[in-house]
Amino acid sequence: MKRFEDRSWVQSMRITMDFNNMMSDVIGTEQGISRESIDALGSRLQEAAKAMVEKRKSGKMDWRDLPYNQKEVVADIKRTAEEIKERFEAFVVLGIGGSALGPIAVQQALNHLHYNELPKDKRGGYPRFYVADNIDPERMQALFDVLDLEKTVFNVITKSGSTSETMAQFLIIRDMLQSRLGEAYKDHIIATTDAEAGNLIKIARAEGFKTFYIPRGVGGRFSELSPVGLLAAAVCGIDIEELLAGAAYADELCSVDDVYKNPAYMAATLQYLAMRAGKNISVMMPYADSLRYIADWYAQLWAESLGKRYDNNGNEVFVGQTPVKALGVTDQHSQVQLYTEGPFDKVVTFLGVDKYRTTMEISRGYEDIPAVSFLGGHTLNELIHAEQAATEYALLKAKCLNRTIWLPEVNAFTIGQLLYMLEVETAFVGELLNINAFDQPGVEEGKNATYALLGRPGYDEKRAELAARPAKKQEYMI
Ligand code: PA5
Repeated sequence: MKRFEDRSWVQSMRITMDFNNMMSDVIGTEQGISRESIDALGSRLQEAAKAMVEKRKSGKMDWRDLPYNQKEVVADIKRTAEEIKERFEAFVVLGIGGSALGPIAVQQALNHLHYNELPKDKRGGYPRFYVADNIDPERMQALFDVLDLEKTVFNVITKSGSTSETMAQFLIIRDMLQSRLGEAYKDHIIATTDAEAGNLIKIARAEGFKTFYIPRGVGGRFSELSPVGLLAAAVCGIDIEELLAGAAYADELCSVDDVYKNPAYMAATLQYLAMRAGKNISVMMPYADSLRYIADWYAQLWAESLGKRYDNNGNEVFVGQTPVKALGVTDQHSQVQLYTEGPFDKVVTFLGVDKYRTTMEISRGYEDIPAVSFLGGHTLNELIHAEQAATEYALLKAKCLNRTIWLPEVNAFTIGQLLYMLEVETAFVGELLNINAFDQPGVEEGKNATYALLGRPGYDEKRAELAARPAKKQEYMI
């Protein structure tokens, strides 16, 4: 029996959200949110909850079904991961945005923090793991410098099958593999994309690449629990069934209509009310290096989903909350000064971990210097918890709205839960704002301008539009 099949273990792994420091009776009426203002949303909350159910039923939120409908896909992924483990020394994701941030976040959360530097046996025999998302030529070259192409498999991930960055990387790598390996290059490429749309699927079929599909109704930033993230995770030895079980548990917790009983809905409601009160910045500050890239993943989810010019009725609304990534305790020495004494324009979300995967004692020393010796005999675990509690207190005192999401420990189950919960929270804020949380017209504009600048056929009009942009003035360049 897998541990996630044991209900008492599942309950012991429940993530909790402490939103005391968002509430006016705790943090004060000046900045805090009152229960009355939550209750005053009344029918709005009910309508949003209803829309969530209806959209799910009508197939507009297919990402919500990922914990349940991938049995065969999971079996295929596990088989493929074992084959990769047998044959290859390195696994490289080529993808960007939603096709990269989830794999990075999950890998960092669930594997050794220096995974790639461990000898192979300490990695469980699994390959080293890289994500090439940016197209900085120096970075690409640096990656090639550490790869042995004959022992590397590349997973090209693009939902649209046409993103310039990913396709450019694919072209380079295909050429390199082909020159080095001849026909055998095909075994070194796995394509993850839409089953019908886009160019990658056409290429993959023509070439005979191994292929995984991103379900039609699952957008990039909501795709981590699809083959986008599952293959990368399985290839590094992560238990993807546990990851999905965690998401299924979060689904259970986040499918209740009553906001007071649904952690994702409550979180969304508070963020929505905070936004209405001018808190336009959402800081995520994990107190664990393992969770540091969850903040990167969340930044994309939050920014692209909620940053919108128009609402669903076509009115200009210019909504959204700017995500900021921070790391506890590192950014206590960098950003916390601003959080405590700067403008009241933010909500800080701490991610806390009850039980770290290791305990490290602080050695005793310098008993004659009490300001140093007091640390000895404690653990780093106690120190990081104390610093988290102290920062929370400082923010409370400064009336900076904050909440803490507590993970009992970092494992595949709690990470699956966390990702899913944050996705539901994001979608629910989208409903409250009456915007489409699942499109990204602002990103498309940039993509199209790139196509035009590099001469992609069919983009003549965009090219003309770009040519007509204001010329650079010399006096503004110093
Ligand atoms: O969330 C999204 O849809 C985007 O951020 C995409 O993930 C990103 O632009 C990459 O797109 P694609 O997977 O189509 O290459």
